[in-house]
Amino acid sequence: MKARAVIFDLDGVLTDTAEFHFIAWQATAEKLGIAFDKEDNEKLKGVDRVNSLKYILAKDNLIVDNNKFEDLLREKNAQYLTLIDGIGPSHLFDGVLSCFSTLKKANIKIGLASASKNASLVITKLGIENLFDFIGDAASVANSKPAPDIFLSVALGLKVLPENCIGVEDAVAGVSAIKSANMFAVGIGDAKVLTQAELVFPSMSEFDYDLVLNTLSLMSTT
Ligand code: BG6
Ligand code: MG
Repeated sequence: MKARAVIFDLDGVLTDTAEFHFIAWQATAEKLGIAFDKEDNEKLKGVDRVNSLKYILAKDNLIVDNNKFEDLLREKNAQYLTLIDGIGPSHLFDGVLSCFSTLKKANIKIGLASASKNASLVITKLGIENLFDFIGDAASVANSKPAPDIFLSVALGLKVLPENCIGVEDAVAGVSAIKSANMFAVGIGDAKVLTQAELVFPSMSEFDYDLVLNTLSLMSTT
C-alpha cells in the first residue's frame, strides 16, 4: 500500500467534543430514567444521533412515539450546541496541527470523516476548516459507522483509492468502519479497546507518522 491520504474522525480525535456528546446523552437518559455511564458511552462513540437514541431507549425497552423521539433528538442537540458554544482554536488537541503540517509536507491529502451533523460548525470554531482537502457529509451517506460509507465517500472526494488511505479513529465503531472500507486503521486511545486497529496511539500528541509508514511497509513485505 502507498499512503496517499489520511482521513480523520473529529469528535475525540481532533478535539474533546466526545465528552460533550456524553454529557448531553447522559442528560437525555436521566430525563427518561435510564442509567447511562461511560461504558455505554464507549459503545455510542462514532454512532450517529438517531442510532444513539435508539440504543439508550433499548436499554430499558422504552418505546416512544415519533414526536417524542424527534423532541428528544432536538433537546440533546440543543444541549450539545450549548456545550460547544465556547470552543475555539485552543480546544484543538495537542499534536493535531503538527501532524497536519507533517502530512502536507509529505504531500498526503487530509480528509474528515465524522458521523456528526455538527462537524462543519465544530471545525469552523476550531479554525481548521481550510486545512482539509475534503470534508465528508454525514447527512449524505446511507449507513453510519460501523458501516464504511463515510470513509469511502471521503476517499472518493479526495480521489484516492481506499487501499491508499489511512483512517484515524477513537471509537470502536469508527475503527470497524475504517476496516470495512479496506483502509489502514490508526486508533487514538486504548489499544485494549481499539483491538481492530493496526496501530494505536494514546493521543494525537503521540501520533507518529513515521511509525505509521514503517508499520505499513512491514505489513506489505509480510
Ligand atoms: C460522532 C460522535 O462523531 O457523531 C457521536 O462520536 C455522536 O457521539 C455522532 O452522537 C453524531 O453527532 P451529531 O452532532 O450529529 O449529533
Ligand atoms: Mg470519534
